[in-house]
Amino acid sequence: MSNRLPVDHVVDEHGADGWKVSPGGLVTALEPVMREAGGAWIGWAGVADQEFDPFEHDGITLVPVPLSEDEVQDYYEGFSNDTLWPLYHDVIAPPSFHREWWDAYVRVNRRFAEAAARVASRGAVVWVQDYQLQLVPKMLREARPDLVIGFFDHIPFPAYGIYSQLPWRRQVIDGLLGADVIGFQRTADAGNFGRAVRRLFGYTTRGNVIEVPDGAGGVRRVIHRAFPISIDANAFESLARRPDVQERARQIRESLGNPETILLGVDRLDYTKGIRHRLKAFGELLNEGRLEVEHATLIQVASPSRERVETYMQLRDEIELTVGRLNGDQSTIGHQAVAYLHHGYPREEMAALYLAADVMLVTALRDGMNLVAKEYVACRFDNDGALVLSEFAGASDELKQAVLVNPHDIEGLKDAIIEAVEMPKKERARRMRALRRRVTEHDVARWSASFLEALTGAGVIPAGVSEP
Ligand code: F6P
Repeated sequence: MSNRLPVDHVVDEHGADGWKVSPGGLVTALEPVMREAGGAWIGWAGVADQEFDPFEHDGITLVPVPLSEDEVQDYYEGFSNDTLWPLYHDVIAPPSFHREWWDAYVRVNRRFAEAAARVASRGAVVWVQDYQLQLVPKMLREARPDLVIGFFDHIPFPAYGIYSQLPWRRQVIDGLLGADVIGFQRTADAGNFGRAVRRLFGYTTRGNVIEVPDGAGGVRRVIHRAFPISIDANAFESLARRPDVQERARQIRESLGNPETILLGVDRLDYTKGIRHRLKAFGELLNEGRLEVEHATLIQVASPSRERVETYMQLRDEIELTVGRLNGDQSTIGHQAVAYLHHGYPREEMAALYLAADVMLVTALRDGMNLVAKEYVACRFDNDGALVLSEFAGASDELKQAVLVNPHDIEGLKDAIIEAVEMPKKERARRMRALRRRVTEHDVARWSASFLEALTGAGVIPAGVSEP
């Protein structure tokens, strides 16, 4: 269960309706898992005020949950993406706290819990995904004590000093503790959660087990720990090996005038991604003559996201002003400094872009994991290309052979970009081989298997229910 289904409902210019792959890393990660596991995927179809019956899409059973226009504004754009999102990303943007947004969040979480309670067979495993649905585990446990319930948080869980700003901090944790296993991206996130539980509820934690009073004088054991998410690495590699994708990579380079170095950024247009810091560093490098526009081009894919939320509208204006200025100052008739693309692209095109890029820039200010970094590595079966990676992205815990950066340190970021651009081929290959080993061995199948193993392992199956 996740806020969004893997596909959004769309209507084309001729009025015909269809389904389009939804944005974000969650879908990239979970789609192969669901295809493998069977079961039903419960979520919102991405449009307001429309009801759809359950249907099959690409081999997966989808169960849509409707949202009204008001709920899209208050639960999705409001509480999820203008309260929780900035709060959980270390208040990079100021979170807004509104009681009516909270009320909508409770109402919609209840609707999701009711949908799962209706659909799940007896003793089923229900795996709830992400910050939009943190109240579901408790609601679902109350309605269906026979179920095994997991929760995975795809975004960071902040330190208590930040988390404690949330007026509903107790209710959210109480909601999460309805799960049997609560998964996080990084060990640090799980630690922050455990501390918040102790501070707010005083429950005992032993290692990764939290002892939650069961109301009958006993305790229920809830596991909280890191399960770093990943991608279907083989699928990305297979895409990159396709001759048409490699041909497309050649075309991309050619259409930019075959520069010596192509740098690439791929992000949802989000203020957590550090796109401004990246542009600033690149612009200064051109200004200072450490890079030359004849030889280096930055492709920035910024896919549209949460476009009605004020902070996102402001960010888009800022980014587009910066790109416009940078190109105005630095581009020549034949050479563009930044190729800026405000679009989402199919996976084939992304794989071609990854193959075309000599340097991949992931400069997030805060990011749960960042699967783009892993996608880049998975596509580079040629053991070439250099990855510049923010230490504030969860991926940096695993991808240690990347050029790691603090994106707030613009001088450090500039040096890291130059290090990546000038890295000798042998060194690139050495690092890329190690990165690829990590990503192929720790792929999304392993992630889901280890989570589900923790969930269905000894001690968490409710009494009297056989393992599904
Ligand atoms: O991984 C974080 C996340 O918010 C997912 O929950 C979500 O599906 C994705 O990013 C894209 O965001 P949205 O659904 O708001 O477009």
